[in-house]
Amino acid sequence: MSTQSHNPPPPPCAIVIFGANGDLTKRLIVPALYNLARTGLLPERLTLIGVDHNKKTDAEWQGAVKEFLLGILKKNGEALDEKLWGQVARRMIFLSGGDFEKTETYQRLCECLEAEDKKDSLGGNVLFYMAVADRFFATIAKMLGEAGLVSSEAKGFRRVIVEKPFGHDLHSAKALNACLLKYLKEEQIYRIDHFLGKETVQNIMALRFANGLFEPIWNRDRIDHIQITVAESIGIEGRGNFYEKTGALRDMVPNHLFQLVAMTAMEPPVSFDAEDIRAKKAELFKAMPTLAVTDVVRGQYDAGTVQSEQVVAYRREPNVAPDSNIETYVAMRLKIDNWRWAGVPFYLRTGKRLNIRSSEIAIRFKQAPFALFRNTPVDELDADWLILRIQPDEGIRLRFNAKRPGPAMTLESVSMRFNYKDYFHQAPAVGYETLIYDCLTGDATLFQRADQVEAAWALVEPVLKGWAHTTPRHFPNYAAGTEGPSAANDLLAKDGRSWRDIRILGGK
Ligand code: BG6
Repeated sequence: MSTQSHNPPPPPCAIVIFGANGDLTKRLIVPALYNLARTGLLPERLTLIGVDHNKKTDAEWQGAVKEFLLGILKKNGEALDEKLWGQVARRMIFLSGGDFEKTETYQRLCECLEAEDKKDSLGGNVLFYMAVADRFFATIAKMLGEAGLVSSEAKGFRRVIVEKPFGHDLHSAKALNACLLKYLKEEQIYRIDHFLGKETVQNIMALRFANGLFEPIWNRDRIDHIQITVAESIGIEGRGNFYEKTGALRDMVPNHLFQLVAMTAMEPPVSFDAEDIRAKKAELFKAMPTLAVTDVVRGQYDAGTVQSEQVVAYRREPNVAPDSNIETYVAMRLKIDNWRWAGVPFYLRTGKRLNIRSSEIAIRFKQAPFALFRNTPVDELDADWLILRIQPDEGIRLRFNAKRPGPAMTLESVSMRFNYKDYFHQAPAVGYETLIYDCLTGDATLFQRADQVEAAWALVEPVLKGWAHTTPRHFPNYAAGTEGPSAANDLLAKDGRSWRDIRILGGK
């Protein structure tokens, strides 16, 4: 099967990576470029310019990222295709000792870009990628602005990719947006939420809007509630310093989980134009009342066994305070006050060191009336569920009641499954391919606008403030390798509902 895409390749350009020596560049950006080359979606003329504070030659930088890529390919049982690699690495330049905070770095960058443009006819197109710690975002935007590198008068496009976190709360998100918008126009800023790069997340729009079947029942008349789960079995992966300042709520909710809510719940846009979709998402966030502390449960993992491996408690992880009150799990009830969703709760949960890695959106439909079955051995009707599997086992499941064969009318809940892998050949991907391709072609559909980011922080703000003043009483409150704290069950029990069993997520 051909892995070539039907889309045209992006125009020639330079990609400037700030943080060229970092993990993100090696683990995701360069492998994504390599995968774009496989599908014919890399610009025909591409110059990669790496900026970082270390001293390195161009060849050393190229060697380092290539070696990392070789490792990734080897893990997948693949060898490097030198021809494809040649397309990625045809011009790789490293601005050695490029301190992000020094004007001199940007002068060198200007000269380098001008020279490359002349040599390679790049049309003046430049994508700046901030693959750096968030404390540098504002500085780099300012320096780029002052050096005239992101002027909208420039010959080609000038776009900037910003990675999460976009702030740590509403105040810092507003300050960051204000700073970015001082030097850049909103349409030049591409705020990446890597969840939107996942095929299955993008497929939510196809499922809802390319089929006549679902939209008529996608509302409070037919849906009882929705559960969104992003369960992780990994811990904090050596990121103690980061996690101690972040916690599960900031790390996952205003970005990844809210984007899943938005894709599931937004009104149909009038077109797939980025602005139309962003407008619908913004409207949805406006319809959500801010969260109350009583609607949110937090948890922290204790020692335990995850998939037969003994793991330590969060408080024993490196660079974590022995009395840390940072949450590694969060569950919440969210309301959407609009015509479509009034009275339909959205329950969200995410956590580290749970017993399984599994992400899904589970839509529970209202129960059928029992009347017809009252004189049969059936004593309860299961509700129907539509389950959108995000990862792993990407696909869609529909659970419904079927008659068990035999003389008596007995029922059993059965499942119809669509698995992506059974239908589509998926080219190897790290999840950044679509996002980078979209930036290079100027499609902002999958990126967050400033107002969305701020609206999301505003929703969780009362909880962040409330938690800052109260000490969680029973931390740690769940053992690693379990389903999370029991208080999360109480949250749904209050509404007469229960979570889908994490152990069977994906299975049923
Ligand atoms: C990141 C978080 O944004 O998303 C991590 O910082 C988390 O803590 C990760 O593990 C989850 O993403 P994925 O794609 O691995 O499910």
